[in-house]
Amino acid sequence: MSEDLKRKAAEAAMGEVRSGMRIGLGTGSTAKHFVDLLGAEVAKGFECLCVPTSEVTAAQAKSLSIPLTTLEEIDSLDVTIDGADEIDAQFRLIKGGGGALLREKIVAAASAKMVVIADESKLVETLGAYPLPIEINLFGQAATERAILQVMNAHGAQGGKTLRRKADGEPYFTDGGHLIIDASFGRISDAEAISRALLDIPGVVQHGLFIGLCSEAYLATASGTLKLSD
Ligand code: 5RP
Repeated sequence: MSEDLKRKAAEAAMGEVRSGMRIGLGTGSTAKHFVDLLGAEVAKGFECLCVPTSEVTAAQAKSLSIPLTTLEEIDSLDVTIDGADEIDAQFRLIKGGGGALLREKIVAAASAKMVVIADESKLVETLGAYPLPIEINLFGQAATERAILQVMNAHGAQGGKTLRRKADGEPYFTDGGHLIIDASFGRISDAEAISRALLDIPGVVQHGLFIGLCSEAYLATASGTLKLSD
């Protein structure tokens, strides 16, 4: 997705925020544009209190003097603006390409509304072409991976699974100190059942299927930005 389209989606989502709001800040290259735009408004006097969904986003927000808080200090947010790896017509998402899925889901669940910003290529008929990120505990990694494979086989996964690694080949660790397994389902025909089955595995901390959390999306296209709402 071009930076221009990411920026356009982020600009459109600025219409969702009002001074005085409590805002969840997403993670990823599209959310980064939104945080930049919000920072520019804060510099002009826009008031907000924000909860970042990753250490990277927190650092960006701090550098822009965006006031930050935590879900210990406040109990809910007005809106969360975040990117997505895939979104379907029922506003179900695959997230976690940037590794922040756990905090992203916690923050989205604490928000009155979650708005996705993306380009139109993220809109899919069926979820699953993008490998599903699954955050797992380090303890019992092999047992957890075997159990994930069983879920994948039971749900007709067309591909395998890989442990996410950094560019230097070392395992990637999330902000919470967990590993990520990227599971290539190919086609997710029953997202709700897969979600439940994965969460039933003791070593699974969370997965990147977001169901019932997002209700609106701004999808940028070369000819304009589409607003989708349920
Ligand atoms: C991070 C995410 C991102 O929102 C998702 O990967 C989309 O990222 P980008 O805007 O860079 O395409 O879920 O965990």
